[in-house]
Amino acid sequence: MIKKIAVLAGDGIGPEVVTQAIKVLEAVGERYNRQFIYRPAEVGASAIDKTGDPLPQETIDVCLEADAVLFGAIGHPKYDNDPNAKVRPEQGLLKLRKTLGLYANIRPVTAYAPLLHLSPLKEDRLSGADLLILRELTGGIYFGEKGRTENGAYDHCTYTVHEIERITRLAFNYALQRRQRVTLVDKANVLETSRLWREVVKRIAEQEYPQVVLDWMFVDNAAMQLILNPAQFDVILTENMFGDIISDEASVIAGSLGMLPSASVGERTALFEPIHGSYPQAAGQDIANPIGTILSAAMMLESFGWNEEANAVRQAVGYLLAKGIGTPDLKLPIVHSCSHIGDMLAHLITEPDAVFLREEKIHLGMSTII
Ligand code: IPM
Ligand code: MG
Repeated sequence: MIKKIAVLAGDGIGPEVVTQAIKVLEAVGERYNRQFIYRPAEVGASAIDKTGDPLPQETIDVCLEADAVLFGAIGHPKYDNDPNAKVRPEQGLLKLRKTLGLYANIRPVTAYAPLLHLSPLKEDRLSGADLLILRELTGGIYFGEKGRTENGAYDHCTYTVHEIERITRLAFNYALQRRQRVTLVDKANVLETSRLWREVVKRIAEQEYPQVVLDWMFVDNAAMQLILNPAQFDVILTENMFGDIISDEASVIAGSLGMLPSASVGERTALFEPIHGSYPQAAGQDIANPIGTILSAAMMLESFGWNEEANAVRQAVGYLLAKGIGTPDLKLPIVHSCSHIGDMLAHLITEPDAVFLREEKIHLGMSTII
């Protein structure tokens, strides 16, 4: 079965990490007899440099015709430091979300045992943390009317019942496959949109998902609870802006921003991207952590219904970390480059038996590394 992948590598370290994810997809293809066709397209600052537009129409067309979008990263300091810039790389991503109707951003956060040392949180707080954040992605303050008045500015926050309902059902369906618990994060003590969220989410929970436990938390408290006791959460459901903030906060649980994958799903082609940014200081140095992008590719495989393939990727990642191997950010005993990590993961997927055989030799003192 052939899958068409739109490859939007974007800015900074985007191209390097996406290259590793493609190596891994190719390895999956080899082992499981799957085929991928890659269609590269421009997005972000590099697209502005070439075309003046952070999301050229050609890129939109490539995405609409694909089975999935593999996305690298977006952003460049020359725009971050210029408040008057009319065109910004981020506009490309926001427009892409809107155009593809990607209303739900799904971010799994897992505490990997070999990486517990990286987190500023104490290890006993982290153990058992395994949560899934569902962030609404095409509504709220991000997309409401915005503008300037004579001596001020405004950003409106709006939500429709329909926008809340569709992501709520998705969140509850995920909870059914997990520990059957949903926490709605809002600010219902202050915001009218949050009160609407509570109303809609409660109704759907009662009528359609009686077996799932629903609770709710104000976002300020949730921000605190996430680092006090992350293991209490299963599925977190929240609106766009709160989700943006708490999902970065939650990455602390995984120890490195470079580890976290995400999927954005909705009405058209789904998009898979690491949650980290373009990390311009590291661009071109082959030191970036490609695992967030590789795990995003695993989420893509799962979205095709290829669970065994997705698990093979996750297993390879788990194996590498358990062996104490990683990019510099992971501060593990054995440090390798971004591209070498990609090679090793691809190898672990295509030849798992050879690796395990060699492992026996390692134990016999005959060899050192995979
Ligand atoms: C994210 C990012 C984006 C957002 C930016 C790049 C527009 O922070 O995907 O979380 O705010 O949604
Ligand atoms: Mg963000």
